[in-house]
Amino acid sequence: MRKTELQRSYLLIKRLFQTQSAVQYAKQQPRNLKGRSKSSQDWLTRQLADPYVEKARMMNYRCRSAFKLMEMDDKYKILKPGDMVLDCGAAPGSWTQVAVERTNAAGKQERAPQGAVFSIDLLHFHAVPGATIFGGMDFTTSLAQQRLRESLAGRQVNCVMSDMAPNATGVRMLDQESITNLCYEVLRFALAMSAHGANLVVKIWDNGDVPKLERDIQTYYEKVKRVKPRASRGDSAEHFLLARGFKGFPPAPT
Ligand SMILES: C[S@@+](CC[C@H](N)C(=O)[O-])C[C@H]1O[C@@H](n2cnc3c(N)ncnc32)[C@H](O)[C@@H]1O
Repeated sequence: MRKTELQRSYLLIKRLFQTQSAVQYAKQQPRNLKGRSKSSQDWLTRQLADPYVEKARMMNYRCRSAFKLMEMDDKYKILKPGDMVLDCGAAPGSWTQVAVERTNAAGKQERAPQGAVFSIDLLHFHAVPGATIFGGMDFTTSLAQQRLRESLAGRQVNCVMSDMAPNATGVRMLDQESITNLCYEVLRFALAMSAHGANLVVKIWDNGDVPKLERDIQTYYEKVKRVKPRASRGDSAEHFLLARGFKGFPPAPT
């Protein structure tokens, strides 16, 4: 298909903007590094060189992670107006912001159905208009899950998302086991609370347990895909397992 004049201008502006901001941020050097550890200096340098950090600031997202969810949703359509969404490991709240926008949980689109977003994190974090926040709660505890169930009040969920990451101990094997356990905890809750056709997104760190987790998820969902959004840093082991079309439970053997 031939590109219209308008499309061509848009692409040109977009490319120009991307180049400018890349150059602009590549030039920025962190100041006041005195007294900071090497890892903190590296983190600051990386933040300044990262175009997603500035883009998030300009678009009022609380952190760059917003772009990971937007990218997955743009491609795989996991959220829609009217959906009930559970966001696990939600602080500081950028996935929640995206989920509120895309499910119309704040009711801003008058003609579209209004969704609802429930967000939980170990940390306390600022309210996101349109979402119900459970701050200072460990998702893996029965108390937290009971509170979520009560809030859902019998309604089923259309998308369960987990960007949860355990505090890394630095011992690879232990950290991988912890994140895999979190994924199973989310899967168990999703199976109990999801509507037919619901979606699931869980963050994983690539490791030997992932193929089994993927197979286990596949038992209950039509499609499972391992996804690495562009906004996810290339040097991190982070991936997402994205499952679509909750099938319910297979019939019990007779
Ligand atoms: C990468 S951050 C999430 C960023 C978030 N998706 C956003 O876009 O703002 C991971 C979060 O998982 C949370 N977390 C880790 N284990 C948790 C648990 N057991 N229960 C609740 N939250 C947990 C951490 O406190 C942390 O805030």
